[in-house]
Amino acid sequence: MASIHFPRRRKNILGGIFVVVCLYWVLQQQALFKDQLKTKIVNNSCLQALARLEKRPGRWPTVPEPSGRIGDDVIEKLLDLRDYEKCVMSNAALDSERLKLIHKGLFPYLNLDLLYEDEKKFWPVHSRWDGQVVQGFTPRFSDDGYKFIGFSKIKYDQGLSFWENWLRNIMQPGSRGIVISAGTRQLEDCARLVKVLRHLGNKLPIEIVHRGDLSLEEQRRIFQISTEEASSDFPAQDLWFLDVSSMLNPVYADSFKSFSNKWLAVVFSTFQNPILLDADTIPFTSLDIYYKSHQFQTTGAVFFKDRRVNSDILDNDQLSTLKRIFFNLTGITLVENESNESVRDKLKASFKDDIAVEIVYNMIVKGEKHHMESGLVLIDKRQHLVNILASIALQFSSISDYFHGDKEWFWIAQALQGQPFTFHPKGASNVGKLGSVISDEKGEFYQLCSVQLSHTDIDGSLLWVNGGLRTCKKDSWASDYRNNKRISSMFDSEEAVRKYYQSPIQLEAAIIPDTDIKPWIMTGECAMFTYCTLYKEGEFGEVIKFNQAQKNAYREIVRVWNSAIHSIEDPSSVLEISDPRAQ
Ligand SMILES: *[C@@H]1O[C@H](CO)[C@@H](O)[C@H](O)[C@H]1NC(C)=O
Ligand SMILES: *[C@@H]1O[C@H](CO)[C@@H](O)[C@H](O)[C@H]1NC(C)=O
Ligand SMILES: *[C@@H]1O[C@H](CO)[C@@H](O)[C@H](O)[C@H]1NC(C)=O
Ligand SMILES: *[C@@H]1O[C@H](CO)[C@@H](O)[C@H](O)[C@H]1NC(C)=O
Repeated sequence: MASIHFPRRRKNILGGIFVVVCLYWVLQQQALFKDQLKTKIVNNSCLQALARLEKRPGRWPTVPEPSGRIGDDVIEKLLDLRDYEKCVMSNAALDSERLKLIHKGLFPYLNLDLLYEDEKKFWPVHSRWDGQVVQGFTPRFSDDGYKFIGFSKIKYDQGLSFWENWLRNIMQPGSRGIVISAGTRQLEDCARLVKVLRHLGNKLPIEIVHRGDLSLEEQRRIFQISTEEASSDFPAQDLWFLDVSSMLNPVYADSFKSFSNKWLAVVFSTFQNPILLDADTIPFTSLDIYYKSHQFQTTGAVFFKDRRVNSDILDNDQLSTLKRIFFNLTGITLVENESNESVRDKLKASFKDDIAVEIVYNMIVKGEKHHMESGLVLIDKRQHLVNILASIALQFSSISDYFHGDKEWFWIAQALQGQPFTFHPKGASNVGKLGSVISDEKGEFYQLCSVQLSHTDIDGSLLWVNGGLRTCKKDSWASDYRNNKRISSMFDSEEAVRKYYQSPIQLEAAIIPDTDIKPWIMTGECAMFTYCTLYKEGEFGEVIKFNQAQKNAYREIVRVWNSAIHSIEDPSSVLEISDPRAQ
């Protein structure tokens, strides 16, 4: 065997050279890496954008500059968010002070001082049904998304943006689950929803997101409702409460009340792909179907249409402001006196999807205000996180009162940011008992009146309903009996109205009205929540009559939702709700 033998001194010299070469290589790699980082920001568009973002004052909600117009704040904020996504979000070359400054300006609602001072106290508190309570950790679920497998410690990287940390180090990639936003007032509905999810055999984990306003006793009640009397037909749920109050800047935390609470739920839930449910939403199918839907696979979101209302429309000032924002941000240019058809063609070229074009057209040209029903929304946060942040910006902007609550900001943010989006193709429907049937030689004529807004699938099956499953969701029997002629002519006492209002609904059919011919009609019943819709064979509308098997299945869900629960406020009182099977 040949071996090369060097004297010891030579060996030392060679070793030294080797070390120097290695050192040189390492330094060069580092310089190369730094250069790469530099080229990332030594790029004029980003340099200017960063300088702009650093100077933002961090106002909340936003208002236009004193010299500006309503809506200018929206354009500025949404452009800022585009710059944020392009130049800050995954830029690893910004130091933590700079990042903090930019985040304070763009997301003043985050409690960043706490994050930098005492990180562990910043993270949300997760409470699980089995009594585990953690802060600074996030739950992890098995790859199929159903099984809780343990906690992982949150590792916040101060050299990365907040939202990139959120996506990379906090949210579990691919995770799925149900998210409900609830305060004390929604707890009873929430309890009923949990029972329906059990009845449907739901296996997805559930997070209820709140701002520290749910007492331990209230949480305990919901845990009990989610686990008691478990069987294979009525499985216990993996239910969590998520208190996000520590993440919110105390100065602005209260602005996230009622509808706005939902943004906290969608953004801070740990799931990448949350299915967001209102507490008074009732699903009639397994929620897994939405993950498989074509809509979700192609756009990363599932949106449903609202009742189309042609009477409640944007006023002229609102419409012109909205147009200005819309055309500024989408880069669609119109010429003076452009015809409606030509506007539609431009929308088509910009939004490839027919439903999206129709929705945008109804808003921009017709001034309609009701497009989306957000009682059930699925959204992929990896794809849409910045759009959700844009939705939040819109909700807290100078145009926040243009639309009702939160619902339209989901899709409007996507439209304004030029993202592809679409809606479930079926229009919103009215569901309940078919009434006033008059058949003549011209065919059938139906009226259906109810509080419940429903969504049916292409095949006519019921997907979900909003508004609870009793006749009237409001306790308005006394005032309705006094003030509503139709009600006082139908019932001979307040008590009779109460019984009727609290009775479970019967699901026989749904009517999707043709709103251009026969719009939704408000009757004044149930504190103005009841709407009637009409269908006439071959002339207007669409009627969907459920078959016997569907009716039976739906009746069971109505029964489960209405079955007695111990009142959340007062454990000694039991809500007496009659069982529809006994009627
Ligand atoms: C600057 O960076 C942005 C984002 O990476 C990129 O879109 C743009 O094309 C770059 N501009 C130049 C001049 O390189
Ligand atoms: C959009 O609005 C911004 C801010 O008001 C303005 O500077 C810009 O010129 C507008 N762009 C277009 C295309 O109208
Ligand atoms: C646009 O319409 C107005 C009012 O009808 C008219 O006065 C104006 O001349 C039109 N402009 C063009 C460019 O056609
Ligand atoms: C465009 O449509 C709107 C709403 O339907 C209507 O009020 C307006 O007159 C139409 N404009 C033209 C130029 O046809």
